[in-house]
Amino acid sequence: MNNRIMQKEIVTDSLGSLNSQIKLNQPVKEFLVLQQVYEAGIKEIRTKLEILDDEFKIKHDHNPIHHMEYRLKSLDSIVNKLKKRNLEVSLESMVENLTDIAGVRVICNYVSDVYRIAELLVKQSDIKLIQKKDYIKHPKENGYRSLHLVVEVPIFLAERVQPIAVEIQIRTIAMDFWASLEHHLRYKSDSEVPDGVRDELIECAKTISHLDYKMQGIHEELNKSKKRIKSS
Ligand code: GTP
Ligand code: MG
Repeated sequence: MNNRIMQKEIVTDSLGSLNSQIKLNQPVKEFLVLQQVYEAGIKEIRTKLEILDDEFKIKHDHNPIHHMEYRLKSLDSIVNKLKKRNLEVSLESMVENLTDIAGVRVICNYVSDVYRIAELLVKQSDIKLIQKKDYIKHPKENGYRSLHLVVEVPIFLAERVQPIAVEIQIRTIAMDFWASLEHHLRYKSDSEVPDGVRDELIECAKTISHLDYKMQGIHEELNKSKKRIKSS
């Protein structure tokens, strides 16, 4: 999710204004229409997650979600990814082969929240789980931790229903802190990240993971004592 974060309905806005200024050729128009459908996929997932977060707050006095970020993959990144994988560069190929055109990043407070949110979302009847990669249980060699899901959500358009793939990265604040720094280092350094730095990053990832579980333990203790006070 390295592209810009979507601030508002950029695609819908740009489609409207472009249409009124120039006569778009058919492939460009088709691409923009598709982008709008992917944007709708993000909206659906975002709303579902917000509803779960609100319900949790009322029932358990705790918000599992700290904040969310969203992005649509840019045309440049789409073309580059298709070329890198030696795939045909076309709209059909894009829809068929890329599952990360719509991306949602969910930043949670605790590790238990990450799994709770994922479970509650995936069990919804209109959500189809396409792929799950658990980099928390099985961190990447460099120390990267996150839970990645690719889900399909139906988008109800005027004349058809289009299932849309959305990539969801769910992680804690601490994991997100690590991933941002690592991403920054990797993309800013012209050459390879030096061995020493790489080892330090792995060390940091372990420390962060330890902290995550410690903080969760404290949170659970506090919850228990709150319940004890209430029932006494
Ligand atoms: P992509 O070609 O990037 O889609 O790789 P993939 O299909 O193997 O997907 P994966 O689920 O491993 O990673 C998808 C996304 O997760 C990336 O685009 C990043 O946003 C994030 N990610 C994965 N690995 C790392 C990592 O080591 N560091 C950081 N900072 N982000 C990562
Ligand atoms: Mg991917």
